[in-house]
Amino acid sequence: MAFTKAAVIGARGNLGKHFMQSLLASSEPKFQIIVLARASSGYAPPADHVEVFKQDLTDHTMMVNSLRGADVLVLMQGMDRDFVTVSKAAIEAAIEAGVKMVIPSDYGGHHTPTQATAFPFQPQVNQFVKEKAEEGKITYTIVKNGTFFGLRKY
Ligand SMILES: NC(=O)c1ccc[n+]([C@@H]2O[C@H](COP(=O)([O-])OP(=O)(O)OC[C@H]3O[C@@H](n4cnc5c(N)ncnc54)[C@H](OP(=O)(O)O)[C@@H]3O)[C@@H](O)[C@H]2O)c1
Repeated sequence: MAFTKAAVIGARGNLGKHFMQSLLASSEPKFQIIVLARASSGYAPPADHVEVFKQDLTDHTMMVNSLRGADVLVLMQGMDRDFVTVSKAAIEAAIEAGVKMVIPSDYGGHHTPTQATAFPFQPQVNQFVKEKAEEGKITYTIVKNGTFFGLRKY
């Protein structure tokens, strides 16, 4: 069964804005889109039918309510000190809301020991979501695309 309702965190970012364009351009399926952003976010929706919730992304009740009905949660936020906390809170809320799949914010390469030192947060979140999947609570996809070049030009 195709997913038709997608929730996105990080929609204003370098990757996120391109991902949003692709979601909006898709006609089969045509996605209903929810954007979850921090209360302080300057995110402005690119289309009227993008539903935006600006809120505390670690507020479990609020997040569960916002995520109800979504098929997939796509995490695409940048890395900061709240990366792991926000990711785990959003995944917990997605599970309770009945979201079928989560895509953690990775989009990197294979984690060699050197990369794991430079980017310590993604492995923690990936491990967390794997454990939840092993408990049968959700499915997940981790995107490992390697290095982007010239990302900021576009
Ligand atoms: N493979 C590669 O070469 C490569 C290159 C670049 C990035 N990446 C990966 O791709 C992912 C996205 O990177 P990016 O460069 O697109 O990120 P970015 O531009 O820094 O992301 C900014 C977006 O993330 C949101 N955000 C930042 N911190 C947040 C927080 N604590 N809670 C909630 N939202 C938060 C921002 O929300 P506001 O609207 O509130 O500001 C904004 O929407 C990361 O996992 C990164 O490591 C990979």
